Amino acid sequence: MSTPTNNKRGFWGSRMGFVLAASGSAIGLGNVWKFPYITGQNGGGAFVLIYLVCIFAVGLPIMLAEFTLGRKTNLNPVGAFKALQPNTAWVGIGYMGVVAGFLILSFYGVVGGWTLAYIVKSFSQSVLEFQSPKDAGQFFGQFIANPTEVVIYQALFMGLCMAIVIRGVHGGIERACQVLMPTLFVILLILMVRSLTLPGAMEGVKFYLSPDFSKITPSVILIALGQAFFSLSLGMGAMLTYGSYLSEKENLTSATVYVVLFDTMIALLVGMVIFPAVFAMGLEPAEGPSLVFSVLPAVFSSMPFGTVVSIIFFVLLAIAAITSGISLLEVVVAYFIDQVGWTRKKAVLTVGLIIFALGIPSGLSFGVMSDVKFMDKTFFDIVDNIASNYLLPLGGMLTAIFVGWKWGIAKAREEIEKHETRFHWANLWGFLIRYVTPVAVAFVFLAKFF
Ligand code: PFF
Repeated sequence: MSTPTNNKRGFWGSRMGFVLAASGSAIGLGNVWKFPYITGQNGGGAFVLIYLVCIFAVGLPIMLAEFTLGRKTNLNPVGAFKALQPNTAWVGIGYMGVVAGFLILSFYGVVGGWTLAYIVKSFSQSVLEFQSPKDAGQFFGQFIANPTEVVIYQALFMGLCMAIVIRGVHGGIERACQVLMPTLFVILLILMVRSLTLPGAMEGVKFYLSPDFSKITPSVILIALGQAFFSLSLGMGAMLTYGSYLSEKENLTSATVYVVLFDTMIALLVGMVIFPAVFAMGLEPAEGPSLVFSVLPAVFSSMPFGTVVSIIFFVLLAIAAITSGISLLEVVVAYFIDQVGWTRKKAVLTVGLIIFALGIPSGLSFGVMSDVKFMDKTFFDIVDNIASNYLLPLGGMLTAIFVGWKWGIAKAREEIEKHETRFHWANLWGFLIRYVTPVAVAFVFLAKFF
């Protein structure tokens, strides 16, 4: 079982290739677009602290569990649970993951489209005309309200993801990530320096780094938990699927630590770019999904070579979004290839088009459909909320229970220690997976409802 023979599946070229590809899945719009805006909406410092606890106490152990299940079975999420526990309800975790992949990519493609549009608009300099983030925000608001433009760019984004996934996993994904990650890091450092030297920046640093616990409610904790899952690509089998293309020689524990650290570093760095600028420029931190698209263009227009920086930044962000988008698509595609027997091409084309169609109402949620609301939420918000705050934490919790109690820590450990890799913190991990992770997620759900 552990030596894959299915020649429709690919393999990572090297260990670093795998770490980069998994980081490519983790690092994306979740770090650069979502993390700052939900931190802004949920009170700053205290939210960041709770987010970090969720990352290390809940996210990290689950990531290792997903990698282990994937490498053990060499299958997609549905197939993996079927192989280990045939004809049981556990397989439902896999199906839930496939559904989550569908839902997330549908709105992810919309925001991915926005980043592609901002590359084009940086070339024409139209995004850089505004010194004030209020004007830049207004420009962004007009853009996302324009149905034709939004849908065209969303189609372009989906098309790019599909083109890469059709070629199979390692070629495109690994190579793209190799250049992307270090460059993104460097450009964020440069932007951080610019942001911190704006007059009034320190107010933003205070908002971001000094916790005010009066802002914390059960809903806020659930959002932090959901964001931890979203940002680390957990709870829907994306990391399981990536692990399934991994050979036994690799060290799963160190790969997990690298991916979690890279992802967290990038998110924290983005916060240090956004919040100083938000306060220096007199913008509202709770502005919502348009935050990054209003603040950054104003930062770019206040610095030398702003146009070039803007182009480079949005190109990197688009690549980061694509490397995450392909992992979402890959989960659904791998299911149809392995379980339903479709060819890769048929799976990518069919699934990609359906997800694109499902994403259109999300894309229109900021314009023609902005008044179509259910419980005060737009279509976009509903899909995001169901997938990120419910399906992912639930999927993660069930995965932890499965590995901790059903499949068993001992078997997982055996897989992790293949090829004599010593798993030094096995006991701690077992404790986290069996007790801390499931209890934490259940507690957050219960606190939210009662
Ligand atoms: N982790 C990605 C991001 O932060 O942008 C989004 C994502 C990818 C979520 C893959 C879930 C997933 F399975």
